[in-house]
Amino acid sequence: MASELCILAYSGGLDTSALVPYIKETYGYDVIAVLVDAGRNRNLAELKQRALGAGAVDAVIIDAREEFARDFVLPALLANTLYEDKYPLVAALSRPLIAKKIIDLAHERGAKVVAHGCTAKGNDQVRFDISFRCLDPTIRVMGPAREWGMNREEILDYCAARNINVPLTKKNPYSVDENLWGRTIECGELEDAWAPVPEGAFTETVNPKDGPDEPQEVVVTFEMGVPVAVDGVKMPLVELIDAMDKIAGKHGYGRVDMIENRLVGIKSREIYEVPGALALIMAHKDLEDLVMTRDLLRYKSGVDTRMADMIYDAQWFSPLADALRAFVNETQKWVSGDVRLSFFKGNCTVVGRRSPNSLYVESLATYATGDEFSHESAVGFIQLWGLPMEVAARRAQGLL
Ligand code: ARG
Repeated sequence: MASELCILAYSGGLDTSALVPYIKETYGYDVIAVLVDAGRNRNLAELKQRALGAGAVDAVIIDAREEFARDFVLPALLANTLYEDKYPLVAALSRPLIAKKIIDLAHERGAKVVAHGCTAKGNDQVRFDISFRCLDPTIRVMGPAREWGMNREEILDYCAARNINVPLTKKNPYSVDENLWGRTIECGELEDAWAPVPEGAFTETVNPKDGPDEPQEVVVTFEMGVPVAVDGVKMPLVELIDAMDKIAGKHGYGRVDMIENRLVGIKSREIYEVPGALALIMAHKDLEDLVMTRDLLRYKSGVDTRMADMIYDAQWFSPLADALRAFVNETQKWVSGDVRLSFFKGNCTVVGRRSPNSLYVESLATYATGDEFSHESAVGFIQLWGLPMEVAARRAQGLL
């Protein structure tokens, strides 16, 4: 009788490569390794071979870049989501997508067990475990890397003893997760929060000082919140993000070095390389400032923050997240227009914006001729606006 199947969310990295034989040897399951490509994956064929070499009964590569862009990155962009105002949720966004693809394949192949390679100290285990459970509450979820009790060296030995060719070398000392929305870089020397990040940690951005000596302007066009063109050239979302990544990266924009509060209670030093993501969020937010009322902007900014926390905190598949996404979608109907960005030596600034739905009315804002603002109304408005404060001040000063 054939063994039961376990579908493993495979990244090609050290831990998930070691997991292939580990799951077989420890639990007796045949392992199907599934690599969900959410973008920026290099040498997929090599990763597939690595999984098969490690003993997987099958290795499947799923190209999910478009789905990732449309169903995960876009809702995040519409909500301008930055965790703790800095991190565009690169890894956090891909986990629910990967979980979905793994569960789909488990159903297709009749597997009752799924596994991920997360350790016990990170956020990703929470995201995988909960996403799997939401998508199929009957599935058995395993995270053996939380329990196997091996440190990095021991995992390397474990792999060496089985002739598994693993990617970790002295030259590549970091733990990296990457997708269309950016790169996350952890471990090694980066754990010293005071130490500067070695230049070699970055692959998508030049050092800001090495950026071109001339600034570069780029116009991003949005239709109902969705970025659709760069410098007038229409392109699908995956390509557009890629194009923005390249432009911003060339100018050294998009490096983040932050102390982050993990869901599991620890603070960690995190490095992110997110040129396109940060530029697009900046442009999108600026266009919102032009077309939304103050009330809506204030309210939405609270929703945006909550959404960022929810994505980070493994709550993508939750009724509240669904409701917040519906709210955000409703707000995007006016968010069409162009934003002009300028990149220069590690900076990105908005230097112009326009929209057919603009609420910026020059005749109301101008200090020059053609002013239509009601100056007389200002005096009466201020009288009443300040009235409650004045009454309170009178009371405090014994004047009532
Ligand atoms: N700190 C980030 C997050 O929690 C990045 C995690 C990267 N994950 C990884 N397995 N390397 O979203």
